Amino acid sequence: MVAINTFLSLLAVVSTAAAQTNTTLRYMPFGDSITEIICWRSKLWNRLQTTEWASVDFVGSGKGENNCRDTKYDRDNEGHSGFLAINIANQRQLVGWLQRNPADVITMHLGTNDIVQQSRTVNDIIAAFTTLVSQMRAHNPRIKIVVAQIIPLGMGNFNSRVQQLNAAIPPWAAQQNKTESPIWVVDQYTGFSGTGDNRDGVHPNDAGDTKMMNKWYPAIIQAFQAAKADKIADITAA
Ligand SMILES: *[C@@H]1O[C@H](CO)[C@@H](O)[C@H](O)[C@H]1NC(C)=O
Ligand SMILES: *[C@@H]1O[C@H](CO)[C@@H](O)[C@H](O)[C@H]1NC(C)=O
Repeated sequence: MVAINTFLSLLAVVSTAAAQTNTTLRYMPFGDSITEIICWRSKLWNRLQTTEWASVDFVGSGKGENNCRDTKYDRDNEGHSGFLAINIANQRQLVGWLQRNPADVITMHLGTNDIVQQSRTVNDIIAAFTTLVSQMRAHNPRIKIVVAQIIPLGMGNFNSRVQQLNAAIPPWAAQQNKTESPIWVVDQYTGFSGTGDNRDGVHPNDAGDTKMMNKWYPAIIQAFQAAKADKIADITAA
């Protein structure tokens, strides 16, 4: 009797821990229109389907514009056309978005609207990135973060500002890096043509979507691996 009671209470402990550990990985594509009304998410989802990451759940409050001729892929995302990093950070919008759709892994491509619409300074944009990273970690201290050095524009005269922002990102990310919540920087600028790889000077065309997906891919896989290791550690600890 004593032995059975011990066994039962052990079982209760194990199943409580298991219930708290949802092993499905949740990935939030986060940004502006270059995350919302594009097709790199479709290309990424399709590429993942032949890998061990096929069950990763893309999460976010929007579906984006489905102009990708792809009815299968998981369209959930947190891309917001026209939004500035500075406003998302100051208005604490990401806090609510993550509450509604928790994430283990997040990608961030932001800064284009800060530069194009409002000529905000690199310092102000980087300060917003710091706020956003702290909001991500307040939500989930072990969130895995992938940050883009953003793509060039094929209109206007903005690319020197874009390059200044992009140059500031790696040292900022290194300084913000944490073992339990790593930041990986992905260079979406190099090799991307603002005129040739965008359909309208701002948003990638099919060739640009393929380039963006291929640039994201290795860092996103590293982030998935790190997030999966956390989940295994949780189950083992239980
Ligand atoms: C685990 O998370 C996935 C992805 O967010 C969700 O679809 C599923 O319902 C969750 N399962 C449980 C048991 O909560
Ligand atoms: C952050 O740390 C991870 C290892 O945990 C490393 O792979 C990554 O390159 C680092 N990021 C930066 C920006 O230094």
